[in-house]
Amino acid sequence: MSVKKIAVLTSGGDSQGMNAAVRAVVRSGLFHGLEVFAVQRGYAGLINNDIRPMDLRSVGDIIQRGGTILQTARCKEFITPEGQEKGAENLRKQGIDGLVVIGGDGSYQGAYKLSKLGIKTMGLPGTIDNDIPFTDFTIGFDTAVSIVVDAINKLRDTMSSHERSSVVEVMGRHCGEIALYAGLASGAETILVPEVPFDLTEVSQRMVDNFNLGKRHSIILVAEGVCKGEEIATEITKNTGIEPRVTVLGHIQRGGTPTHNDRILASSLGDFAVRRLIEGDSGKGCGIIKGELVATDIEKVVSTKREFNMELYELAKRLSQ
Ligand code: ADP
Ligand code: F6P
Repeated sequence: MSVKKIAVLTSGGDSQGMNAAVRAVVRSGLFHGLEVFAVQRGYAGLINNDIRPMDLRSVGDIIQRGGTILQTARCKEFITPEGQEKGAENLRKQGIDGLVVIGGDGSYQGAYKLSKLGIKTMGLPGTIDNDIPFTDFTIGFDTAVSIVVDAINKLRDTMSSHERSSVVEVMGRHCGEIALYAGLASGAETILVPEVPFDLTEVSQRMVDNFNLGKRHSIILVAEGVCKGEEIATEITKNTGIEPRVTVLGHIQRGGTPTHNDRILASSLGDFAVRRLIEGDSGKGCGIIKGELVATDIEKVVSTKREFNMELYELAKRLSQ
């Protein structure tokens, strides 16, 4: 049975492109004759009934903005059945029968619980981590990678001037995709990710060899899921006497205007989610695989670990000699 009234919320770590996705859900819903609502502050707003109607102008001039106009939250209460029921009840009270959740894997868990309480949900992969399966990319990943690559470009200049090495710590929680893609794109000599074991003695020796080969700098990219960048630098200094400079990019990776790739991905997925709800589909996580928009059972999405791209990892290793 199709939906008549839908809501949209953003949840968990914010990511660039979330606003473009919100805009697409609102505009596509209104285009198809639905009433559209927004929930402020993620699942906390759902529990607190912070729900308001949206019109075409509500999402004007936001496609280019980072962050999320709906704000977000990390809400412990929603992890409880009571919190989930409260959220579902608030939707039912307003006759809202469909919900689009834009967030990461944790938010998908919440969407899954709501779908089991009878709310027709669609998940959009809104996170910079690229750690959600059944989509090639998550919304915000492309922008985060571009920020890391730009930072490494800047580091290269000063590292080359001083013939130094640099350790750069990036986000990704337990996933190494930001480090992998940014490392390959910036020609980093070493990429350390949680998915691939490594030997720090060998990493240290490779740095010495790089300098002996005539390289004027050496960049080690470490995903936060491995360890702190400082720990890598300390070990390298202990092994070689070289003192790498450490840069922790932190939340810079979560800000700024979304790239055109993220804006197009977000717009396509937001509209796709609305059309799937109208066609009577629910309980799915939306994504794009080899250019095709797909909807996968959310239970399958939350219970599947994303496969690491070893092919790209080996390519980066081959080309960074
Ligand atoms: P992300 O969605 O970016 O992974 P979190 O892991 O913080 O961020 O999840 C966002 C929110 O989703 C949490 O603050 C919580 O409200 C909700 N959530 C997370 N895990 C669950 C769960 N297992 N069941 C229900 N809700 C959950
Ligand atoms: O999930 C997105 C993310 O940026 C992770 O890469 C990072 O570890 C985490 O959020 C940081 O969370 P917070 O913004 O709550 O400090």
